[in-house]
Amino acid sequence: MPHEEMSWWLDEFAHAGPEHLDAAYVAAFDEKSATDWSEDIAILQALGIGATSTVVDLGAGTGSFARAIAPHVARVIAVDVSDPMLTTIRSHGIEAVRAGFLSYEHAGEPPDAVFTRNALHHLPDFWKAIALERIARLLSPGGVLRLRDLVYDFEPGEADEAISAWLAGATDNPAAGWTATELVAHVREEHSTFTWLLEPMLERADFEIRDRWLSPTRTYAAYTCIRR
Ligand SMILES: C[S@@+](CC[C@H](N)C(=O)[O-])C[C@H]1O[C@@H](n2cnc3c(N)ncnc32)[C@H](O)[C@@H]1O
Repeated sequence: MPHEEMSWWLDEFAHAGPEHLDAAYVAAFDEKSATDWSEDIAILQALGIGATSTVVDLGAGTGSFARAIAPHVARVIAVDVSDPMLTTIRSHGIEAVRAGFLSYEHAGEPPDAVFTRNALHHLPDFWKAIALERIARLLSPGGVLRLRDLVYDFEPGEADEAISAWLAGATDNPAAGWTATELVAHVREEHSTFTWLLEPMLERADFEIRDRWLSPTRTYAAYTCIRR
């Protein structure tokens, strides 16, 4: 049955994070979230992603990663649920699709890699598991998933200490990063999970975790995974 006809299926367009629907926030996003993508691109290239490859970026935001990898691959598709984000992606000449983790349907040659950064946390864990299984189905065996997100690498009993330390290190300048007020809203209202819950979800979706990076703050993680 198509998702639209399933009364229990999550409407991910209604859970995009309100700021991502705000045109002013989107216009300032690239400066706030300035990123050097060279390490992500090098990791994908080391796994064979190159001139003939198709890459899908899920929760692409302004398409900053898609723009960076576009010269190195045959096709990159930037997928997002936010109309202002999609307008920005298209303004840079990047192929964009209005969809999300739970609704994206791929057309054309199957992707060789799926990339996603700082977007999966918009889904509660039940839906993360479903999203990861959908990503696995998008990829053929040997396909690559590069997943980066805000993920908590501590025990529940350490939350006070770990979150307090994270907030203490936040920037005061909202134009150049995320302030303590924004991080508080993230912890309270969004769905970042623990590494020790996310990793079994990846395994269960038939991914082998080849490489894992954890931030010193214990609040960010990056995984390079291969579809079994
Ligand atoms: C913090 S931004 C990250 C953007 C980009 N990946 C980056 O790293 O610069 C999160 C993005 O996820 C998108 N998003 C929210 N819920 C989503 C969903 N269910 N599926 C796909 N994208 C989603 C938002 O619209 C937003 O563009």
